[in-house]
Amino acid sequence: MAESNTDTKSSNQMWGGRFASGPDAIMEEINASIGFDKKLFAQDIRGSIAHATMLAHQGIISTEDKDKIVHGLNTILSEIESGNFEFSRQLEDIHMNIEARLATLIGPAAGRLHTARSRNDQVALDFRLWVKEELEKTEKMLTGLIAAFLDRAEEHAESVMPGFTHLQTAQPVTFGHHCMAYVEMFGRDRSRVRHAIEHLDESPIGAAALAGTGYPIDRHMTAKALGFREPTRNSIDTVSDRDFAIEFLAIAAITGMHLSRLAEEIVIWSTPQFGFVRLSDAFSTGSSIMPQKKNPDAAELVRAKTGRINGSLIALLTIMKGLPLAYSKDMQEDKEQVFDAAESLELAIAAMTGMVRDMTVNTARMKAAAGSGFSTATDLADWLVREAGLPFRDAHHVTGRAVALAESKGCDLAELPLADLQAIHSAITDKVYDVLTVEASVASRKSFGGTAPSEVRKQIAFWRARN
Ligand code: ARG
Repeated sequence: MAESNTDTKSSNQMWGGRFASGPDAIMEEINASIGFDKKLFAQDIRGSIAHATMLAHQGIISTEDKDKIVHGLNTILSEIESGNFEFSRQLEDIHMNIEARLATLIGPAAGRLHTARSRNDQVALDFRLWVKEELEKTEKMLTGLIAAFLDRAEEHAESVMPGFTHLQTAQPVTFGHHCMAYVEMFGRDRSRVRHAIEHLDESPIGAAALAGTGYPIDRHMTAKALGFREPTRNSIDTVSDRDFAIEFLAIAAITGMHLSRLAEEIVIWSTPQFGFVRLSDAFSTGSSIMPQKKNPDAAELVRAKTGRINGSLIALLTIMKGLPLAYSKDMQEDKEQVFDAAESLELAIAAMTGMVRDMTVNTARMKAAAGSGFSTATDLADWLVREAGLPFRDAHHVTGRAVALAESKGCDLAELPLADLQAIHSAITDKVYDVLTVEASVASRKSFGGTAPSEVRKQIAFWRARN
């Protein structure tokens, strides 16, 4: 798509009636949004067709004019789609670029399209339609990511790994359980997306500049034609509101934060020191100098994209926070933030879905790590409470002494001889070894939402039915 910036000093052909000369070059540069809002061309044309159709239906314009307008707009749509449309910076934005082209194509009838509307409700409409589509796309992508985790969780419902707090070995868990933690996170993100779609599902068109219009328009008709639940209820709010864009960015930021935590885990897990997973060649890169390296670049970039998305959220919140009602030109700066964040989010979800599906899980390494670091110490304490009747605090103390002994001997808890354990507390019997293995520890945690394979399978079934 070519962009032209002719140098003429004539006033703007769309709104230049009261202006004697054209804008200063700097004015044109700061004012123009065509460089980025051309992305809204399809939404703009859909909105205009719905508006023109409604105007004709209400007898505000003639059917002949409406037909010319619709035909012209469809021509413009194919011109833009095929790259045969010349965008002009002098015409500021996508709305005026399309309308000016319409005038060239169909003549004076084009001038009737802008009856009973303003660029203020027009841009609110176009942008809402765009954000709605993006949210719908995000919803689908999150469903794909959740499906990838459900498959991995099912495959690894029994695979033990160390569970961490403070990134220190805490208690054994299953890798399936860990995967299901992400299913919960992305499930919440998806439900936030669904709520956001519900919030924005109102049609702005017909609010006009800010006060509504004296023409007998039918906003319910345009709302329906454009796939909205209903029209917005306050024309001032309609042209002032960018909550839908901010909500998208907030959801993108939260989802990005989840993706980034996953990315961070993958970076850690794929180090030779951990060796829990191996990334596929498709999602890693080599080093130009160190032949042994396999770098998790995609995961690192997902982690970095989160910074960009957060920046977009803060930028738009800041742009909006001081604006009096109704429209101010500041609001033109909303689009780049949303476009950039949407691109980053889509890429990040796609990359993580691919990585999760493709990575090789090293169950032997995970199991070995799960058994080290005295991860079953809590199980020993629980056994002392259950079988020897000790108060938990005392059991904790006894277990601490056992851990210290194992540490000094350089062995695991399960490797301490019974005599050593009995020297610490006489009530300990050889039955204690049943709970000191990681498998026994994991299988015992059957509380709702716990890590026992039986419980993890229940949660997988729940999410399969929901996904
Ligand atoms: N390009 C403008 C934007 O993105 C369209 C609305 C302009 N409205 C106006 N009153 N100048 O916000």
